[in-house]
Amino acid sequence: MSESPVNPPSLRSRRARLRRLVRQLFAERSLIIASNRGPVTFERARSGRVRATRAPGGMVSAVSAISRYANPIWICSPMTSVDREMAEEHAGELIPYSTRDYDFRIRFVLTDEESYRQYYLTVSNPLLWFLQHYMWDLVRVPTFDADEWSAWQSYQQVNQAFADTIAAQAANGGKPTIIILQDYHLYLCPGALAPLLPDDSLLSQFIHIPFPGPDYWMVLPPAIREQILASLCCNHVLGFHTKRYALSFLRSCESLLPGARVDYSEMVVQRAGKTLFVRTYPISVDLRSLRRLAKARKTSQERQHLLRRLGEQTIVRVDRIDPSKNIVRGFKALDLLFNRHPEHLGRVRMLGLLVPSRLGIEEYRKYLDEVIVTAQRLNLKYGDREWEPVKLIVGEDRARAIAAMQLYDVLLVNPIIDGMNLVAKEGPVVNERDGVLVISEGAGASAELSEAALVVSPYDVVQTAEALHRALTMSPEERAERATKLRSSMEQRTVGDWLYDQLVDLSQLLPD
Ligand code: G6P
Repeated sequence: MSESPVNPPSLRSRRARLRRLVRQLFAERSLIIASNRGPVTFERARSGRVRATRAPGGMVSAVSAISRYANPIWICSPMTSVDREMAEEHAGELIPYSTRDYDFRIRFVLTDEESYRQYYLTVSNPLLWFLQHYMWDLVRVPTFDADEWSAWQSYQQVNQAFADTIAAQAANGGKPTIIILQDYHLYLCPGALAPLLPDDSLLSQFIHIPFPGPDYWMVLPPAIREQILASLCCNHVLGFHTKRYALSFLRSCESLLPGARVDYSEMVVQRAGKTLFVRTYPISVDLRSLRRLAKARKTSQERQHLLRRLGEQTIVRVDRIDPSKNIVRGFKALDLLFNRHPEHLGRVRMLGLLVPSRLGIEEYRKYLDEVIVTAQRLNLKYGDREWEPVKLIVGEDRARAIAAMQLYDVLLVNPIIDGMNLVAKEGPVVNERDGVLVISEGAGASAELSEAALVVSPYDVVQTAEALHRALTMSPEERAERATKLRSSMEQRTVGDWLYDQLVDLSQLLPD
């Protein structure tokens, strides 16, 4: 199986080799991608016409890049009421979606609304998300009562519905199929799907979020964690962003999954006659779409608006409003920065572009309130008529986010823990000010970027404040050197390489 070379070939030749591999792999095979959130959501314009818009989030944009090379079928849940209407209208059919950059055929998995709600709002988030981001206050929560067990049944049902739809689609194509599942919403899918697939199919899954070790998985009752681990072992390949998460998966299987045999040197788990290859594929940026967006008119308009909102120096953060993103400790660090280094008062501003997320969950609503109240307190404490230390812009707008990243002097990415964090990789590509990246060691991206960024503990607000100070006062030469290093590391590994490495490993499992 492939290892990334230290000095990879040029971007152009890497693109060409991906194109060749895709052509060769999918000449006689179909590609099915499955994830809870699909690449687009449908909305109704005022005129009554249905139009598709690109779905938000790093996972969707990264996985979408494959459609430049292949024409995948993407199986996903309807997310909006218009998606549901489309799902009903096109039951069992493929809905084509193509633009200059993307080309998919979408098929929705329709489940009853209450089961879907429990699958998404109780089990996927918060149960699994909180578990995998170490966010449970274990003295009190989670508690497995009758509601939680009934939600678990819904999670099983939705996963079974995904498996049935994927199997039906695979049977339809009349060709062998390669199936790539995405993320924690579909943990039970491989177990339900494997028995329904012909032997010439290949099944893989990529987990975009952190994977804790066995002690933490023990928060889940044995029946649940064993079902999850056993199902994941029904894939041929299982991918993670970092070696640490891959090793945690192996250790979890060894300790918690009866019948599993783990080989750490080969990174393989054997169980029930199946062999699972566990691999590391760090995701990266989609340089082409990022650069195009950086030049787009909409981005320069947003940039004009933002220019009026900057400080003399600006610390930018771009996050979904999620407790794992550690936004409040970021404000505490800013507070300490002003306290310890008052020369920044009146000059430095934090610009936070925050995207509301999962507001159906109480913890997220409370966190949004806490973020806003903490920012207001800081503004009251330090601000005056002329200047406020924090400017928050709440809402989803990709062009505005890119514009903010072009303009930062410092980019703060301080999650408690995060699978990869693409903001940390996108920022340096589009930034025009030799901005400094301050990143927490909890972000998967810190493993690759630690040489050129300033790395902090997400819990240590003193260290974070001092890193901000260092970034704000760094010499222009050092800033330029670090920014160049960051940019060139993004050129050395793009989202295309992430896809390529996975496809190479899958191609090696095909019969000769
Ligand atoms: C983040 C994670 C992805 C995950 C997604 C789900 O972006 O990095 O791994 O799939 O959240 O978000 P959603 O908005 O669909 O709940």
